[in-house]
Amino acid sequence: MPKIVFLCKNGASQTIEAENNWSIMQIAVEHNIEGIEGACGGSMACATCHIYVHPEWLRKVEAQDNEQSEEEKDILDTAYDVRRTSRLGCQIKLNETLDSLVVALPGTDTDW
Ligand code: FES
Repeated sequence: MPKIVFLCKNGASQTIEAENNWSIMQIAVEHNIEGIEGACGGSMACATCHIYVHPEWLRKVEAQDNEQSEEEKDILDTAYDVRRTSRLGCQIKLNETLDSLVVALPGTDTDW
């Protein structure tokens, strides 16, 4: 099972072993990660699954059939504190190639 590391606003991090082919939003909601709601259930209508992908992972994520669509960009425009690696967590599915992926929650201070 691939692991995913969530960096939180309070400086803590949480590593979770995830089911293959689950989205980052599904994993976060299942494990009560604060700051990710997934209010629309993954239909790209809410932006409550907004996360920042660590820059070192951005291309690897996209290469796993997780490219960003124009519709996703439009929804992200409504999100809080959007940055250059912002994505909707519901649009990124994990697999073994993405084992140890690092993402941060909205508003988290990062040096990237
Ligand atoms: S869960 Fe609503 S946009 Fe991702």
